[in-house]
Amino acid sequence: MLNQEEKLQSEYIDKLKEIVKNKENALSRKLTCQVTTFGCQMNARDSEKLLGILKEAGFEETESDEADFVIYNTCTVRDNANQRVYGRLGALKPIKQRNKDMKIALCGCMTQEQSVIDKLKKSYNFVDLIFGTHNLFCFAELLYRMYTEEKQIVEVWDKTDVIAERLPVDRKYPFKSGINIMFGCNNFCTYCIVPYVRGRERSRKPEEIIEEITKLSADGVNEVMLLGQNVNSYGKNLENPVSFAELLREVEKIDGIKRIRFMTSHPKDLSDELIEVMRDSGKLCKHIHLPLQSGSDRILKAMNRVYNKEQYIDLALKIRKAIPDISITTDIIVGFPGETREDVMETVDVINRVKFDNAFTFIYSKRTGTPAAAMENQVSESEVKENFDIVLTAVQNMAKEQLGRFLGETVEVLCEGLNEQDDSCVDGRMSQNIIVHFKGDESMIGKYFKVRLSDFHGFYYDGEIVE
Ligand code: SAH
Ligand code: SF4
Ligand code: F3S
Repeated sequence: MLNQEEKLQSEYIDKLKEIVKNKENALSRKLTCQVTTFGCQMNARDSEKLLGILKEAGFEETESDEADFVIYNTCTVRDNANQRVYGRLGALKPIKQRNKDMKIALCGCMTQEQSVIDKLKKSYNFVDLIFGTHNLFCFAELLYRMYTEEKQIVEVWDKTDVIAERLPVDRKYPFKSGINIMFGCNNFCTYCIVPYVRGRERSRKPEEIIEEITKLSADGVNEVMLLGQNVNSYGKNLENPVSFAELLREVEKIDGIKRIRFMTSHPKDLSDELIEVMRDSGKLCKHIHLPLQSGSDRILKAMNRVYNKEQYIDLALKIRKAIPDISITTDIIVGFPGETREDVMETVDVINRVKFDNAFTFIYSKRTGTPAAAMENQVSESEVKENFDIVLTAVQNMAKEQLGRFLGETVEVLCEGLNEQDDSCVDGRMSQNIIVHFKGDESMIGKYFKVRLSDFHGFYYDGEIVE
């Protein structure tokens, strides 16, 4: 059953179909659209919704910048994400000058910032439609307005309590899918803009999540990724509170789902119950992404991460003890205000003791409006560069050692697609989130195979099918 908002948006999709048809007739060709995603898995999932609505309305997808409709789903977690968007927009301007019918839209996390809106209005007035993260579900309505009102439309909300998830979605992969289990974040790590652009934490009801996954399974999906900025606090604010571990137990029961992943876990409230579910489950993948950010107690405190170095290490080692073949990956920030070489060496110490299987290492980016941006002890660029290299080298050395530990074993892999360099080979993914290349063809995509890991190449394996 569709809720009121979902019904309203479906009506707008019908109106859009008319508009698209008329334009098609005038041009004697299909209308094309390009959806480009910046940022995290949640944005990727949101983009699938954008594309779902566009395709339902009659657009054909293209990667070309010459598309009739281009939409950028933006990220603002670090400044380089913003700069990439401005760069791409600049390149669209001359194309739009040649094609007066072309329409350009911007949505996602960047547009939730007033400074960005001001800049767009001033210097990018060729952008036709701007909306935010809270009213993405109104996309059909906004598109309709864009095509019927001849002016720049800026519609950004600062919050919402509507959840409208039963609208068309065009999945990137037929066999795997992300599912939003919660929105927003309440943690306010002092460097991070996400709580400001994604709003307060809200969990979806478990029955709605289960209904969505059951439908996905019937539609051929066998791997799901449960998405939230901090999945460990899932369900705490529901009318009938449910823990994340309890939700996982329910998801496990759904027929046809063979693999369950989730993203992201905050170390501060990772429960023993969750470790037990991961240990005992035949479906939960042997991988956890557990952002560390820093190994220094002083910096962790200034970051408002609420755990200290030894607590993090204890937790990670407890997980390793319970599930020895698990891979643990992390996020690390280098160059947070006040960070010294000593602090960086604490981070390296955690890398060596936890033995991360991999890590994303980021240079601290100052985000206007966050508490860290106002801190006076910002670190100089040259110092950060040196420290970044130290951390990166430690991460890479550890990753090589850790990822290679499965050599010679026979593991189950999900075949995800043809290998880009060699189309007589396919790329598969282990439960531990490690890529394996092996002989195969298109017919194998979306299926599981037992593969012997015969060769290790630093960050991926070559394998041979054994059954
Ligand atoms: N909710 C997730 C992270 C989402 S953002 C969590 O807390 O684990 C993804 C990563 O971007 C973060 O883990 C952090 O390492 C990085 N990040 C966030 N803000 C940043 C900033 N201002 N500068 C550099 N990296 C940042
Ligand atoms: Fe940002 Fe922290 Fe929330 Fe993650 S938990 S999104 S790093 S504020
Ligand atoms: Fe970026 Fe927004 Fe995700 S800021 S990391 S796209 S929540």
